[in-house]
Amino acid sequence: MCGIVGYTGFREAYPIVLKGLKRLEYRGYDSAGVALINDDGLNIFKKKGKVAELEEYAYTKNMQSQLCIGHTRWATHGEPSDRNAHPHLSHSGEIAMLHNGIIENYAQLKSELLKKGYSFKSDTDTEVLLNFIDDIKKENACTLEQAVSIALKRIVGAYCILLIHKDDPETIIAARKGSPLVIGIGKGEHFLASDASPIIEYTKEVVYVNDYEIAIVRPNELILKNLGNEVQTPFVQKLDMELAAIEKGGYDHFMLKEIFEQPQTIEDCLRGRLDAVGGSIILSGISNYSKEILQANRILIVACGTSWHAGLVAEYIIEELCRIPVEVEYASEFRYRNPIVHKGDVIIAISQSGETADTLVALENAKEKGAIILGIVNVVGSSIARLSHAGAYTHAGHEIGVASTKAFTGQLAVLMMLALKLGYENGTIAADRYQLLCNDLASVPEKVAQILKLDDAIKKIALKYADARDFLYLGRGYNFPIALEGALKLKEISYIHAEGYPAAEMKHGPIALVDENLPVVFVATKDSFHEKVVSNMQEIKARKGQIIAIITEGDTVSPTLSDDVIILPAIDEIIAPILNVIPLQLLSYHIGIAKGLDVDKPRNLAKSVTVE
Ligand code: F6R
Repeated sequence: MCGIVGYTGFREAYPIVLKGLKRLEYRGYDSAGVALINDDGLNIFKKKGKVAELEEYAYTKNMQSQLCIGHTRWATHGEPSDRNAHPHLSHSGEIAMLHNGIIENYAQLKSELLKKGYSFKSDTDTEVLLNFIDDIKKENACTLEQAVSIALKRIVGAYCILLIHKDDPETIIAARKGSPLVIGIGKGEHFLASDASPIIEYTKEVVYVNDYEIAIVRPNELILKNLGNEVQTPFVQKLDMELAAIEKGGYDHFMLKEIFEQPQTIEDCLRGRLDAVGGSIILSGISNYSKEILQANRILIVACGTSWHAGLVAEYIIEELCRIPVEVEYASEFRYRNPIVHKGDVIIAISQSGETADTLVALENAKEKGAIILGIVNVVGSSIARLSHAGAYTHAGHEIGVASTKAFTGQLAVLMMLALKLGYENGTIAADRYQLLCNDLASVPEKVAQILKLDDAIKKIALKYADARDFLYLGRGYNFPIALEGALKLKEISYIHAEGYPAAEMKHGPIALVDENLPVVFVATKDSFHEKVVSNMQEIKARKGQIIAIITEGDTVSPTLSDDVIILPAIDEIIAPILNVIPLQLLSYHIGIAKGLDVDKPRNLAKSVTVE
């Protein structure tokens, strides 16, 4: 949700920042802009649209500078436009600032500033904060760093801000609360960014800035302070990430690359944890909390979007294998509805980015009440990972496509291992079933690779239905969340209206939508409910709906009811969701491409939702 990049050092700064913005475009692409200081003074260049628009606009301008800050925006306050693009220039014309987050008390600050004679060029909360800082600096005759520190004590909301001052062509002042900031440490240079991808090719030494910290960044100096002006010791970490991980590697789109990476990413997730031959599962980040989880009266799962769907699968699996009640909550609802959380309650947080604002705040609240937080997170060192008492990374690697694919299957793999391990320790799974499920889970990477070979066939199906106005996705039991996920993927990528529904619930309303124009995707692999799902297919067929069925090899009945089938290898019903989602990812991808859409950057979306 907005990407930010900054550079101060000995190299030309603008090309570094521009490249970084392209890497962070998945976080928002409503507008892009940079601010830099050179012989022409402090200058801002910004354009509505993607980073490429900015690049074209700045092509003939004097962009030479050893200091630059840049922003790619996901609009919150104010429509996407040149005027609302970041960075903004202060009323005095002395300071440029960019911002990722939301200033909740901006209206109050704005009215105070208006009374003092300030005027505003944009509709953004960012410009309000900037002028608030500008005003404090003037009134107190203090440094920019001091003004930022005073201002932030009055700010309600989330922010990561970068500021530069026209008289100081070496220094970037940065601060964060709730929105991520990582600083790369080079020799005689520093890099700032929302995540490590703009930094990785220059240095692997990074510092993740904490909430309520201010960084004063110069080519040869990095000073971290808290808002009380106390100097903090930066905790320098080594990045475990390669440049290749953030490039397309020959694929047309990141989404396709990430779908095709899944045999490897799931393998990476299972490696060193699942030993199917020895029948053991080690989740070292969680094992210290096994007792607390098994003794819990209930487990709460908190997440958003696709991660919430992974939580729903986990609910079904944990209840089945561990016999512990599980509740799955949308983080955005959970945080505001005064939920009952007791000391010792176990909360599993699921998040690809580890930065989703709703999830983060929901967890902070629950942690204050004494809950134990287990984080199932993809981005190493992210805010949710750091806030969690324990957890397991999904090891899916950098996910750049805005629609989540490989992170979802990584989440499922971790949650399946967790459920199996706890169920076995709890004595609620028989040894032979446990062994069978371990074996099936270990076979997933190979079976995913097999399913990916169906890509051409799935593309043909996609072309056939690409002009549909609506889609219905149906599944029961473990496959109900997969139906939800299939519908979400299609909505995001193709802008076709799609609904996921429990297959049997369909007759209580959505069946009214069914006619010869409605494609209905059944996630109908062999499980305990299969006969029931086949009856639901009959109900759709009787109303002339077009059926696309995801089925298991050997199923001879479903094809007779379906217009198109996608046949998957057999696997236990508990592990099946991780396979069943793959054809749905491909179906959405190919429909999006057939409609000529930008599947990596669907409209209005951003990868990391750091605003509520
Ligand atoms: C959908 C998608 C979103 C995210 C959601 C939560 O493809 O990517 O629905 O799943 O915004 O994000 P994380 O998992 O980063 O907390």
